[in-house]
Amino acid sequence: MAKTKTVFFCQSCGTESAKWVGKCPSCGEWNTYVEEVVSKSTASAAAFTSEKSKPINIKETGSGGTKERTSTGIRELDRVLGGGIVDGSLVLVGGEPGIGKSTIMLQMAIKLNKKILYVSGEESAEQIKMRADRIGTTSDQCFLYAETSLSEVIRQADDMGPDIIIIDSIQTLHSDRIEAAIGSISQVKECTGQLMKFAKQKGVPVFLIGHVNKDGAIAGPKVLEHMVDTVLQFEGDRHLTYRILRTVKNRFGSTSELGMFEMNVNGLREVTNPSEVLISPREPGLSGISLGVTVEGNRPLILETQALVSPTSYGNPQRSTTGYDYKRMTMLLAVMEKRLGIRLSTQDVFLNIAGGLKVQDTALDMAICSAIFSSFEDVPMGDDVCFAAEIGLGGEIRPVSRIENRINEAQKLGFKEIYISKHNLKAKDIGQFKIKVRSFSKLSEAFGQLF
Ligand code: TYD
Ligand code: MG
Repeated sequence: MAKTKTVFFCQSCGTESAKWVGKCPSCGEWNTYVEEVVSKSTASAAAFTSEKSKPINIKETGSGGTKERTSTGIRELDRVLGGGIVDGSLVLVGGEPGIGKSTIMLQMAIKLNKKILYVSGEESAEQIKMRADRIGTTSDQCFLYAETSLSEVIRQADDMGPDIIIIDSIQTLHSDRIEAAIGSISQVKECTGQLMKFAKQKGVPVFLIGHVNKDGAIAGPKVLEHMVDTVLQFEGDRHLTYRILRTVKNRFGSTSELGMFEMNVNGLREVTNPSEVLISPREPGLSGISLGVTVEGNRPLILETQALVSPTSYGNPQRSTTGYDYKRMTMLLAVMEKRLGIRLSTQDVFLNIAGGLKVQDTALDMAICSAIFSSFEDVPMGDDVCFAAEIGLGGEIRPVSRIENRINEAQKLGFKEIYISKHNLKAKDIGQFKIKVRSFSKLSEAFGQLF
């Protein structure tokens, strides 16, 4: 009989410890250690090469770089995968509950004319069929399999010889080889290890759906992220319609890719030109609205920033942000107060990035400052102006990366003017644009012209 031992795992980051500890030394979380039984015999189960393998000269090794990629039939998904599905790859799709992980995988499954094994431990085959009916198209090669035992799944996969396997979700699978509870770190690790072995040996791509924990990381995150080839993360507010699929890790492509989708009544629809949907048509003459060009992944996006500045009626002024860093906003307010001489400390300030996106790009700084200024003065801005510049503590306008891409996006969408930093003028291709590029080095100067 296999010798069993128990180990403690941090449920937040997957760190292993021989004894219980209150605070995880690795991720700093409290009370996350849980005892799990692991059997000794499976210690090497995660190794994916067959036992007989031996070292191969690199020159004689088959070329991995030119591996065929299969298109998923969903352009935005292909983009984040680095061009399509690579044979034998293990892809983890993470995201909050209800964000659309099952939907996108099912959509891929029924769109592709390939033999698919869709394993679901969360929903019955009937439930999945209902979802497929909502999405519309059907495929006669998509097989639904409601099962949670890993050995059964692997047995079926061996029998059936699918082209692609989808596991919904990895946290619901369990392996008989170890005794830990379903969804525990050691189970998830073990199941992923065995599936990886299967994927590499058979050359079949495997998609794993993974739930995220409260901080937005995939549960058992570090362990899983190390093991798989590609990690895709679904982001967005599940109450709003737009969803972003981001590449967090990719052994077969770039990690700066991003795909955008819209959830509607019949599944996820690709958004091929995000800027167009993000800037909503609006009433002319509204103050407190300004447009900024950000770069998400490799794609420039034009976002609408909205600010509301109104006198504080009592107590401390309130500040609140949606989709933007709170501290960064307070910094920008301080800069404006000091460098533009406006009294913002007696004002409530609310800031919102329209469309439910969360952004961190400092190139939005200037757009945010102008939205705040416009609301404070109650002077609307022209709707054919946009911004791409960072603001420094001295009120100086700082250059941003990929300025050509940003200007190009603004031009493509028909803006007439873009405000950038003087220091960005050195970029070589600026002269070729038809859009009027206005450059400044100080916020006060720029606002003097703008308002
Ligand atoms: P789902 O894929 O089940 O999310 P996850 O697997 O990430 O938990 O998506 C669920 C949400 O999407 C659900 O709240 C309903 C919504 N939805 C639509 O709005 N339209 C549709 O066509 C489908 C299939 C789902
Ligand atoms: Mg699901």
